[in-house]
Amino acid sequence: MLLQMSFLCLSCLAVFSHSQHQASLSRSNDPTGRCVYTFEVISPQETSCTRNSTESEMDEVLTRLTLLEAMVSQLIARGGSGTGSGGLRYNDEYLQEAYAQVTRERNQLQLEQEHLKTQVQKLQSTLAELSLETERLRQRPSEQTNTSGGTLHENRPLRDPGYHFKNTSYQEMKAEVKKLPASHLIPEGNHSLTGCGELLSVGDPVLHRKADAITGKYGVWLQDPDPRGPYYTKNTVWRIDAVGKEVRQLFIYENIDQFSKGFPMKVLVLPEPMESTGATVYQGSLYYQRRRSRTLLRYNLTSENLASLLDLPHAGFHGQHPYSWGGYTDIDLAVDEQGLWAIYSTSKAKGAIIISQLDPESMKVRRSWETKIRKNSVGNAFMMCGRLFTIASYTTPNTTINYMFDTATNEGQSIAVPFMNKYRYNSMVDYNHAQRKLYAWDNFHMVTYDVRLGWVGQGSS
Ligand SMILES: *[C@@H]1O[C@H](CO)[C@@H](O)[C@H](O)[C@H]1NC(C)=O
Ligand SMILES: *[C@@H]1O[C@H](CO)[C@@H](O)[C@H](O)[C@H]1NC(C)=O
Ligand SMILES: *[C@@H]1O[C@H](CO)[C@@H](O)[C@H](O)[C@H]1NC(C)=O
Ligand SMILES: *[C@@H]1O[C@H](CO)[C@@H](O)[C@H](O)[C@H]1NC(C)=O
Ligand SMILES: *[C@@H]1O[C@H](CO)[C@@H](O)[C@H](O)[C@H]1NC(C)=O
Ligand SMILES: *[C@@H]1O[C@H](CO)[C@@H](O)[C@H](O)[C@H]1NC(C)=O
Repeated sequence: MLLQMSFLCLSCLAVFSHSQHQASLSRSNDPTGRCVYTFEVISPQETSCTRNSTESEMDEVLTRLTLLEAMVSQLIARGGSGTGSGGLRYNDEYLQEAYAQVTRERNQLQLEQEHLKTQVQKLQSTLAELSLETERLRQRPSEQTNTSGGTLHENRPLRDPGYHFKNTSYQEMKAEVKKLPASHLIPEGNHSLTGCGELLSVGDPVLHRKADAITGKYGVWLQDPDPRGPYYTKNTVWRIDAVGKEVRQLFIYENIDQFSKGFPMKVLVLPEPMESTGATVYQGSLYYQRRRSRTLLRYNLTSENLASLLDLPHAGFHGQHPYSWGGYTDIDLAVDEQGLWAIYSTSKAKGAIIISQLDPESMKVRRSWETKIRKNSVGNAFMMCGRLFTIASYTTPNTTINYMFDTATNEGQSIAVPFMNKYRYNSMVDYNHAQRKLYAWDNFHMVTYDVRLGWVGQGSS
């Protein structure tokens, strides 16, 4: 401050060197040689005249420079008084430290910049893919077509000869829903020891989230009924949008509230692309089918790497034995009170649903059951209490859970429990025994259904 003021005084002196007194008279020759008298009086108001801009700019720069010099000399002085003769070295060290710090920060920023660049590239390619997909969706014939088949791709897999597939370039497919004759019997058996009763009724769907992008027309969303590891709990929500050629992104939400608000806490990129909507989360692992294969993958959600990988023997895949919806729903993984299951079919079973109980560690088949219901005749299926339940239609709003197969008795039978496809395009239905709810993805809408379990004549859960 002091310095600044003294500088201003200096400049005053330079300009008004002749105005030490109240007034002054001077004499000089003008260019024509005539004598000119100049009489100057100091203005009582103004301490300085407005000078021309070049001059004032120069002055400003000079002022700043002087200020800086003053600060430097103050610093040196302070360092000197603090550490005696080591003042300069102290400053040196301080500067070196600061320099190192700046260098580290710069390197960090460069790393982050590169990281961002690759992310931008990834996003751009995803965007390109999505535009393509959107374009295809647009070019597709009307939504509710009346075909009975699936899609053709370049590497068309072997199919059962009885199936006639239509040529569309998209994963989705439609089928006429063949409803099975439904009786109104409630199945036999006593599961009270496991906490499992009969399925008495399913509530109306409760909406939790609506997808806002085309990638969210169908997908998988789940909570782990039996979580492991330090990071994730029963409240954690897992979501995968399944539209697209390379389905790899796993969104993680802290709880259902954050999920509803659309704030993921993390996004994992899976090492292998996923097929369809059959994935499940169980005991800290994500289980899913690798794209265009019968290979099952177990992805450890804590260590974030592939823990095991195994082919599901003879399982049809990529459009051989899907649900009536299609969408390559050939292999549907499920979890219930009794563990991990695969719902699928084989050529040998001629499209009838096979249920296999899998070892959660290795995914080896422990035991299999063959049912008498064709996989492509039902809209979806889930496991509950060691029993398979199938849903008659994925698109009829008022449909039924129309068949039940009990692995304990090795017997199946028709049932009729009302079930609502509120949004008319239900691509995924899974049971979560910890929450006692069905989780479903119905045409962009992520919903749950309460289930009421009980015993015949008792009617409570
Ligand atoms: C401003 O000052 C500069 C340098 O003193 C001078 O060359 C220039 O002619 C002046 N401009 C005006 C408009 O007075
Ligand atoms: C599908 O429906 C259209 C009219 O909606 C009809 O012309 C066509 O024959 C139907 N195709 C099949 C395979 O049923
Ligand atoms: C069927 O698909 C092939 C390639 O996938 C394409 O060249 C052909 O035009 C399609 N046919 C029809 C009728 O869409
Ligand atoms: C099931 O078991 C419970 C308790 O063991 C019993 O009260 C109930 O009557 C049984 N229900 C049937 C249908 O056997
Ligand atoms: C997953 O990985 C973590 C960390 O490596 C490990 O502690 C845990 O046992 C693994 N979980 C499973 C189910 O393999
Ligand atoms: C569907 O079920 C709801 C109640 O669950 C009922 O109000 C509605 O009338 C039913 N619609 C049809 C077409 O059966």
